[in-house]
Amino acid sequence: MTKDSEAKNSKVKKVNATKSKPYFSEKKSVEAVLSRSGPKANKRVKLLVDSLVKHMHAFIKETEPTLEEWMQGIQFLTRTGHMSNDWRQEFILLSDVLGISMLVETINNRKPSGETESTVLGPFHISNAPRYPNGANICLDHKGEPLAVSGMVRNVKGKPIAGATLDVWQTNADGFYDVQQKGIQPDNNLRGIFTADEKGKYSFKSVYPRYYPIPDDGPVGDMLKALDRQPNRPAHIHFIVSAPDYKPVTTHIFAPDCPWLKEDAVFGVKQSLIADFKKVGGQWQVEWDFVLSKE
Ligand code: BEZ
Ligand code: FE
Repeated sequence: MTKDSEAKNSKVKKVNATKSKPYFSEKKSVEAVLSRSGPKANKRVKLLVDSLVKHMHAFIKETEPTLEEWMQGIQFLTRTGHMSNDWRQEFILLSDVLGISMLVETINNRKPSGETESTVLGPFHISNAPRYPNGANICLDHKGEPLAVSGMVRNVKGKPIAGATLDVWQTNADGFYDVQQKGIQPDNNLRGIFTADEKGKYSFKSVYPRYYPIPDDGPVGDMLKALDRQPNRPAHIHFIVSAPDYKPVTTHIFAPDCPWLKEDAVFGVKQSLIADFKKVGGQWQVEWDFVLSKE
């Protein structure tokens, strides 16, 4: 190669490099950032980060925040981090109130019809709740209106799933979980683990659940106030139902008469999860079947 053609070649290379790795400009902002990843980039991380960059740059171009507003956003996220610890996860709460938790949950649990639909786990589940025999009462503070819950765990063809595990938790009649009121409520109030019998049947006694506000004394609560949004979740009972060889389901049953059903602060309500709570002989009862599918 002559000196002349060598010089030409290196000029072409430089131009190509500048084209594929453009300097930053408003117009080329996304390309500038995306072009920086190298050939050894983790494919999934690159896909996720590239998409995030595209959407975030589009968001900035659409909303054109002032520097002050951007700093407020950074401070909001910093406060969200500072508020988070082992028992208070403000980032999950943020994802919840933006509808993101429910979207991820729903995409990952697309159910064939007939299977019990899933909903958010929430922050108040504990992994070592007491185990009880069927029929036991999980209401240890004796407040509120008694409720009897019973039903069956079965597969999509109606076959009972003997030995299925039902992990249950709910608020007391004042709208608080036991873990929110340590020393006020008895430990393990309104939570327990039950096992379906040989016919797939389960039953327990509890109390009519009450609606309650999500923890709103942090940055997420401030955001809800600024948006004129209410913080309540409609009255519900949580369940994780599982059995060997079946896909576990994290779900709720919702009381049908709750004023916040249409306005759940975390978008957890699905029509199929609204149960029929009936008063029979002066006592509240709800019958509810859980339908699981094979792994
Ligand atoms: C709950 O239902 O326990 C819950 C879910 C999301 C955020 C806060 C609470
Ligand atoms: Fe809850």
